[in-house]
Amino acid sequence: MTDGEFLDYKSAEQAIKKLLETQPTPIVLQKIVDVLYEGFEKYSWVGIYFVKGDVLVLGPWGGKQATEHTRIPLGRGVCGAAATSGKTELVDDVSKDRRYLSCFLSTRSEIVVPIKKSTMILGEIDIDSDRPSAFDTADVVFLEKVADMLSSHI
Ligand code: SME
Repeated sequence: MTDGEFLDYKSAEQAIKKLLETQPTPIVLQKIVDVLYEGFEKYSWVGIYFVKGDVLVLGPWGGKQATEHTRIPLGRGVCGAAATSGKTELVDDVSKDRRYLSCFLSTRSEIVVPIKKSTMILGEIDIDSDRPSAFDTADVVFLEKVADMLSSHI
């Protein structure tokens, strides 16, 4: 556990696994978003987007503020890039990424992890951080595991 966090990756993974085993699908995604948002202080905003045709549509989210980007065309933003390539996008400094669509003035870094069922991209986990370079390999490994767990519940 690092300072400011009250969950470590393993405990969060176990909490999410338990939710998926015990909670009905309509509410489980919001609860998982809550675990991520409340469990890791550096995760300043957490949302799940669903791929609907050629648009990403915002589902459950957790954070201090709502985003105006509730529908993002697949070709736009860091979110659109991850949903198109199927690969995790890690942006250490959002001010230096020309694809970045700004949601919150406080955001410094962002990670977007696609949720896939074999080759189909169903959606993604999008996390903003108010800290620069907040995400590292441990976040990538953890969030890709979470995305995997979610893929059968979307
Ligand atoms: N920053 C994202 C848009 C979504 S907000 O972060 C919630 C992007 O560049 O696609």
